[in-house]
Amino acid sequence: MTGKLVLTLAIFFCIDSSVQCYVGVGNDPLTRHIRSRRSKPSFSYVTEGDLDGVEYSPVYIGSQKGLKEANKIVALPGQPDGIDFDQYSGYVTVDQKASRALFYWLVESQNSSSKPLVLWLNGGPGCSSVGNGAFTELGPFRVNSDRKTLWRNPYAWNNAANMLFLESPAGVGFSYSNTSSDYHTGDKKTAKDSYTFLVNWLERFPEYKTRDFFITGESYAGHYVPQLAQLILKNNKITNQTVINLKGISIGNAYVDIETQNRGTNDFIWSHALISDEIYHGVISNCNFSSRYYSSDACAKFQNQADAVQGKIDPYNIYAPVCLSSSQPPPSRPDQFDPCINYYISDYLNTPAVQHAFHVNITGSLPGPWASCSDPIFENWQDEPDSVLEVIKKLTTSGIRVWLYSGDADAVVAVTTTKYAIQKMKFSVKTPWYPWYDHGEVGGYVVGYEKNFTFVTIRGTGHFVPSYQPVRALTMFTSFLEGKLPPSS
Ligand SMILES: *[C@@H]1O[C@H](CO)[C@@H](O)[C@H](O)[C@H]1NC(C)=O
Ligand SMILES: *[C@@H]1O[C@H](CO)[C@@H](O)[C@H](O)[C@H]1NC(C)=O
Ligand SMILES: *[C@@H]1O[C@H](CO)[C@@H](O)[C@H](O)[C@H]1NC(C)=O
Ligand SMILES: *[C@@H]1O[C@H](CO)[C@@H](O)[C@H](O)[C@H]1NC(C)=O
Ligand SMILES: *[C@@H]1O[C@H](CO)[C@@H](O)[C@H](O)[C@H]1NC(C)=O
Ligand SMILES: *[C@@H]1O[C@H](CO)[C@@H](O)[C@H](O)[C@H]1NC(C)=O
Repeated sequence: MTGKLVLTLAIFFCIDSSVQCYVGVGNDPLTRHIRSRRSKPSFSYVTEGDLDGVEYSPVYIGSQKGLKEANKIVALPGQPDGIDFDQYSGYVTVDQKASRALFYWLVESQNSSSKPLVLWLNGGPGCSSVGNGAFTELGPFRVNSDRKTLWRNPYAWNNAANMLFLESPAGVGFSYSNTSSDYHTGDKKTAKDSYTFLVNWLERFPEYKTRDFFITGESYAGHYVPQLAQLILKNNKITNQTVINLKGISIGNAYVDIETQNRGTNDFIWSHALISDEIYHGVISNCNFSSRYYSSDACAKFQNQADAVQGKIDPYNIYAPVCLSSSQPPPSRPDQFDPCINYYISDYLNTPAVQHAFHVNITGSLPGPWASCSDPIFENWQDEPDSVLEVIKKLTTSGIRVWLYSGDADAVVAVTTTKYAIQKMKFSVKTPWYPWYDHGEVGGYVVGYEKNFTFVTIRGTGHFVPSYQPVRALTMFTSFLEGKLPPSS
């Protein structure tokens, strides 16, 4: 149902641009992915615990000599003055034979040595963590409408941590492989490559080896984050290479379970007055949410109606303005989020001087242009489990902190989908539901469960939580790092 929704809207908005198909609608093709799953019965699924069964062998480690210094960013073109933190970016080869390399951008904190290291992963599958997470959500800079200069985001997450943005898997953003078959990838290879990346990256930045380490992400990273955490904890027990000091994970509007995803979406779009009662009941009585594929023509008919009647809204934040044209003037207040920002980012990141400053495409031989999300990656996705809830449950028994947070105006991975997924995991409540506060206002709601598992909502924002609520998002993130529930007053 949701797949069709985004497809319809994407066509609507993309008529004048073949490059940026998610502009103004959001920039995560997750719902297209869900739809493509339904029409691809030959899709190969892995079962929960599959990564557990993978034999351990030491990962490839390349020489990192001199690379940290070479990766230092002097300044990004158009960057404002007075930047008081260091930035590094470049490639880490994760497979020498295939020539496969992942691109990272490290944005250190002002007082770097006293702060933890946090990995950030966007979803898709196929979406860039630099172009999306860093430049539209929680990174230190936003691109101005001139597409050339940057302004500083005062609520960037590097206020609280050293932020490591990883473009994953190869084929996403600036990450690439010289072996084209690598672009037929999936959950398993993504987890393994991300692990190899981390082991190598820590050789390049050995000062971070013993630092507290957290993995964060959103959307389809609801698959990436728990599976990478599982692989790290498993390898930590047997490796003779670097032990990764993983302390916790946190995922926003997380895509974690196909059944609760479909059920929760239908309930959200109905209760938020986006579809009629007739369509809602038509879906309920004709669709089997436990089934992977459309269970009947009647189900498909009502789902198509549900897609159509919602109209031209941004499903990733149902109350937000949309980008009606790439030349629409920016919002009058500079602190208001600009729904056309993806156009500016795309132009900025496709500028040769910007790519040089980031240490990419120096010779101009990297096939381009850079894109916010990669269609070939998500269209050729090879494996994923129907659910990662068992992986998440297992992580909570290993002593690490696990948070699921949710922007409450997202209709794509709606807050209801997360609540139903948590019900399915059957944790017992330790701290009952309460409103948390930020600057005197309710920032959202929180429930603390046993085993350091926490559910937090962020009020008045969508799928891309920090874009529309940067202050609340930073408060939530700081609480997560400190291992405290968000403030009750
Ligand atoms: C990919 O091929 C280019 C051109 O031969 C080469 O410069 C680059 O180092 C290769 N990438 C990797 C990761 O080996
Ligand atoms: C940086 O962190 C160190 C260690 O925690 C602390 O002693 C120092 O005061 C901090 N400096 C600033 C400017 O926050
Ligand atoms: C780790 O173990 C592998 C065999 O499993 C061995 O080939 C390798 O040399 C070992 N590495 C170190 C650093 O001890
Ligand atoms: C829904 O689908 C599941 C999984 O295919 C199946 O076990 C169940 O019987 C179906 N329920 C109904 C009401 O058809
Ligand atoms: C690399 O540079 C060339 C020449 O400027 C350009 O055509 C290509 O799109 C760039 N690659 C990426 C990924 O932006
Ligand atoms: C929760 O986290 C704290 C510290 O972060 C740790 O001491 C404690 O053992 C954890 N509890 C569980 C049940 O894992």
